[in-house]
Amino acid sequence: MTRAKPIGTGDPVVILTGAGISKESGLDTFRDAGGVWTRIRLEDVATPEAFARDPDRVHGFYNARRRTLADPAVQPNAAHAALVRLEREWPGPVLLVTQNVDDLHERAGSRHLIHMHGELGRVRCLSCDAGRAWAGDLSVDTPCPGCGEAGGMRPDVVWFGEMPRAMDEIEAALAGCRLFVSIGTSGTVYPAAAFVHQALDAGALTIELNLEPGQVSDLFGIRRHGPATVLVPEFVEELLSTRALADR
Ligand code: APR
Repeated sequence: MTRAKPIGTGDPVVILTGAGISKESGLDTFRDAGGVWTRIRLEDVATPEAFARDPDRVHGFYNARRRTLADPAVQPNAAHAALVRLEREWPGPVLLVTQNVDDLHERAGSRHLIHMHGELGRVRCLSCDAGRAWAGDLSVDTPCPGCGEAGGMRPDVVWFGEMPRAMDEIEAALAGCRLFVSIGTSGTVYPAAAFVHQALDAGALTIELNLEPGQVSDLFGIRRHGPATVLVPEFVEELLSTRALADR
């Protein structure tokens, strides 16, 4: 049954993306078939304890992901581009919160963007805490360009057990949004998986765009399943042209 739900022109929109939006650009997801965590134990490469125990292994994991992201074949896709169109054409605030550490949203043109899990293209020095853009490999021997210390340079990503970034800004945006859109995420990792609760508490319309139902799919008012490069451009066109979203 099709019931169009109106969205006020200019109403604030919050979008959450996960690895699924980058899948059709050639980057791996984590938990669905063939995903990263089905091949590698996250406890070995994505925790502070893993970095303390075996920094070479952690550097090797992130160096490989940096090299993959640098492959010219890895480009933003139609879903990334559709979110840029929405940011540019929607007559209200659009905040894009991504769990992804790739830079495909920026490369597509998104500007109002938060990387809540950090960025693969940045590193931080544990000695002087300086962060900086970094495209090449990193090792325990890499000296910090700032303080010169070696051994303390780490990927500037949020590991399991660490605090995600900009949570105050994200929660304030969720408290005031009228539309919350979750794209390409399994809804298994918190706090991102709880954003839909906060949006519902704010009275927002919630929509899940994902290849398959995620862990918290039942909480969403509208659920559409399929590839992001099909669903996201369709969703943006529907919202911009009708100012409403319909169940399918
Ligand atoms: N289009 C849309 N969705 C897709 C596509 C696609 N082409 N391909 C896969 N998906 C969906 C999958 O069905 C899955 O639900 O994307 C989701 C990816 O889920 P995960 O692999 O769990 O990735 P994500 O939700 O981003 O993980 C969250 O966990 O490991 C940590 O820090 C990591 O940011 C990551 C976080």
